Amino acid sequence: MKDPAQEIDELRDVLRHHEHLYYVLDQPEISDAEYDALMRKLQALEAQHPGLVTPDSPSQRVGGKPREGFVKVRHSSVMLSLDNALNEEELRDFDRRVRELLDGEEFHYVAELKMDGLSMATHFENGQFVRAITRGDGSVGEDVTENARTIRSLPLRVKSDLARFEVRGETVMNRKAFERLNGEREERGLPRFANPRNAAAGSLRVLEPQITASRRLDYYTYFLLAGGEPVRGSHWESLEEMARMGFKVNPYRQQCRDVEEALAFCAAWETRREDLPYEIDGVVLKVDSVAQQQRLGFTAKAPRWAIAYKYPARQAVTTVENIEVQVGRTGALTPVAHLKPVEVSGVTVARATLHNEDEIERLGLQIGDEVVIERSGDVIPKVVRVRAQGSSRKPFRMPAECPVCGSKVVREEGEAARRCVNANCPARLKESILHFSSRGVMNIDGLGEALVDQLVDRQIVTNIADLYDLTAGQLMALDRMGEKSAANVIRNIANSRTNPLPRVLTALGIRFVGERTAVFLAEAFGTMERIAAADRDELQQAEEVGPKVAEEVVNFFREPRNQELLNRLRAAGLQFTYESTRPKGGLLEGLTFVLTGTLPTLSRDDAKKLIEAAGGKVSSAVSKKTSFVVAGEDAGSKLAKAQELGVPVLTEQQLIERLSAR
Ligand code: IVH
Repeated sequence: MKDPAQEIDELRDVLRHHEHLYYVLDQPEISDAEYDALMRKLQALEAQHPGLVTPDSPSQRVGGKPREGFVKVRHSSVMLSLDNALNEEELRDFDRRVRELLDGEEFHYVAELKMDGLSMATHFENGQFVRAITRGDGSVGEDVTENARTIRSLPLRVKSDLARFEVRGETVMNRKAFERLNGEREERGLPRFANPRNAAAGSLRVLEPQITASRRLDYYTYFLLAGGEPVRGSHWESLEEMARMGFKVNPYRQQCRDVEEALAFCAAWETRREDLPYEIDGVVLKVDSVAQQQRLGFTAKAPRWAIAYKYPARQAVTTVENIEVQVGRTGALTPVAHLKPVEVSGVTVARATLHNEDEIERLGLQIGDEVVIERSGDVIPKVVRVRAQGSSRKPFRMPAECPVCGSKVVREEGEAARRCVNANCPARLKESILHFSSRGVMNIDGLGEALVDQLVDRQIVTNIADLYDLTAGQLMALDRMGEKSAANVIRNIANSRTNPLPRVLTALGIRFVGERTAVFLAEAFGTMERIAAADRDELQQAEEVGPKVAEEVVNFFREPRNQELLNRLRAAGLQFTYESTRPKGGLLEGLTFVLTGTLPTLSRDDAKKLIEAAGGKVSSAVSKKTSFVVAGEDAGSKLAKAQELGVPVLTEQQLIERLSAR
């Protein structure tokens, strides 16, 4: 048998290799499922040998306990900001100053994209990540080590000949993660983040690392320092070295011989910036040679050897001609501004979202007003502010009836949105079908908006399950549908029957039940029927399912129309049972634990990980189905409940004994 220490080491190296391929290079070589299986194997081994767990293990990314607050830490050298050049002329001025100060000496620049996030310093000792500090005021930042550890593109361990070094770079949230986050926040009645930068800042500076982990941040590095000073002779060399070490370095960088080449780089990326998965607000130009940087020195607030060439804000002024209301999948009514078409950085904009009625009130907006609109992380532009009130402005009122089906509209307490109460509202049905068929859910290629509109408007589909009764003949009778595309759609619908239970669950569009929760529900209950029959307490035995999610799940399955839908989907042959991919036969397989109070040595999170790695489950509420309650100091109501229900109670020591039982 292999030495466990060696096996753990080898597994970690394999996992690090695949993390680098996936999160840094965007070139995965194995599937997510294979990666997960390797990770579980590592977790299981670590659970059996808790003494071998190290902080740089790939299993430790989602660890960390909530903290009381952030500790302030002084930077090794000041994290300065940059002067801005707002146009070509100002960039040429910068170049002229550099040339003068270097006295005719030859030099060149490095041009990099200026990512719109927040800068952060990370420190490494003996190849291990040890600390992350936000920029703060430049001299003193906040220690966000545990949060940074959850960023997958930040390597926790690297090979370097430097015993201690520091890299500095930008923490960003890409557009997709930003949209997903805002969508979720809206569903929960929370305010949206204004842009990915704010969202990244809000995600890095939270007290629970779990939240940072769920926000999918990215970290791009651009400085390599030791003792606060550059390590290599040129900036370009540093970038290449960091990339070699496994850091994520933006690949879109260029050495420029002169300001003309630099300007060409700026212009090229100004037109291509929309194609990037993250936001940039300009280009950073740096003198490459560190010796020359040192000769150029600093002003009070910025280096003389670097400048930020800022792209103009993507804003424009136009008039709100009307406000219309759209109805989404959950029945939420969203007001949308119809604008006098205007061009914003190369794209004609005719609509802007207003999110909800509170937002309209906040803006003080009426129909006919002149407004400033902006394209930022969102796909749909937004109204930033009212610039001038229209001379014949008209206030807008949210309708009391659904604009699509005429049913009653309600605004529930604590919610920003009004909702149409009619579950069969055609607008809701259309959105539900689009969600059902979307990528990553049931993956029905070809079932897009144009087709769904026709299917619903002509009442060919009045219920999602009708999709599985469609024939090619029916589709061919529709606009823009040839024989071939009709056959493709029918085939794709048929193939979607093989999607596993978590996909089907996600496809139902139950509030708060996304991909991840669906997997946990499927893992915990195994079949759709068991999920449907579970009560609130039972549902909360599933991982990450709290009272809010449980409530929505119960409500969904209680509704007779949904029961009918499920019967029909079952009859259509969709997957209602689940084959778990989790390793079987763990020491705690089939057991459910509830943790309460402060354990003497393990954090709540570590205890949870150990239990899960051994095949057990951890839930937040005690019920008759709980196998054990693990109680530490100051255990409160959960311990009392366990005693009341006769659920056995373990100490941490007893838990560890069970974990290491042979
Ligand atoms: S260099 C002293 N390089 O832009 C040098 N900054 O306006 C300062 N940023 O605070 C930073 N991408 O948050 C540098 N490739 C890049 C950057 C970059 C984004 C941000 C960074 C900095 C701000 C300066």
